[in-house]
Amino acid sequence: MLKSKLIHCLKRNKFLYNLIHSFYWQLKHLISLMVRTRIEEISWANKKGEAVKNAFTNLNHPHRKFLVDEISKFCPFDNVLEIGCGYGPNLYFLGKKFPDANFVGIDINPLFVREGNKWLKKERLVNVRLCHSKADNLTKFKDRTFDIVFTDAVLMYIGKDKIKQIIENMLRISKKALVFLEQDYGHNPGDPQGLGIYRFGHWQRHYFDLLKTFIKKECICTVKIPPEVWPGEDWGRREYIIKVTSE
Ligand SMILES: C[S@@+](CC[C@H](N)C(=O)[O-])C[C@H]1O[C@@H](n2cnc3c(N)ncnc32)[C@H](O)[C@@H]1O
Repeated sequence: MLKSKLIHCLKRNKFLYNLIHSFYWQLKHLISLMVRTRIEEISWANKKGEAVKNAFTNLNHPHRKFLVDEISKFCPFDNVLEIGCGYGPNLYFLGKKFPDANFVGIDINPLFVREGNKWLKKERLVNVRLCHSKADNLTKFKDRTFDIVFTDAVLMYIGKDKIKQIIENMLRISKKALVFLEQDYGHNPGDPQGLGIYRFGHWQRHYFDLLKTFIKKECICTVKIPPEVWPGEDWGRREYIIKVTSE
């Protein structure tokens, strides 16, 4: 609340706003070089109040139907995990569409999890459960526990210090496929392994470069999200579904 009021005031003076904006991102970039994934973990884990309330307004964003349709292509399945599920909007749609399957979500923010579980209970979705946990805590799941493991705008907050370990574990605990809805920045000669470069609050990378170190190239498929799914928004330009299948 205070932050948005401050930004609103600053925007009245364009020069000052641009100066502070640029300084803020430079500082965050420098901090990210030292603390890496931790900087985004702290930021997401501590979102409270308005931020949690506002998250519930994105339930019907068109990209969710697109993502659910892509995941549905792997039907039949029994168990599905979403990493960084927020309050569980994707799992809500999946849970309704596939009442006989079980859906689990994990998220670093305890309030998203608590409020999400309350909402899902109210909606009588008994096949969806959210848990408070971190993306790098997947070692607690046995091999091939889930048919599908997916993310929606989450790997972009995982730095080069943790991304390899997280992908390795996602591959280990999944049976059929991994599905990522993430921003893809294309091949970058400065980052040939796709580990990521931190800019403007998230890690930019080429997922094909990252994944090809773990699996055969033929198992990786990238689908561009059509512009009508993110009409008029900058996000729509770089948003892809990246699918990794076991065969
Ligand atoms: C942009 S939101 C997307 C939420 C949800 N996937 C959706 O589609 O609405 C990113 C989510 O990832 C979670 N997150 C960020 N870093 C995480 C981490 N290291 N482990 C688990 N969750 C994380 C945040 O708390 C947040 O809920």
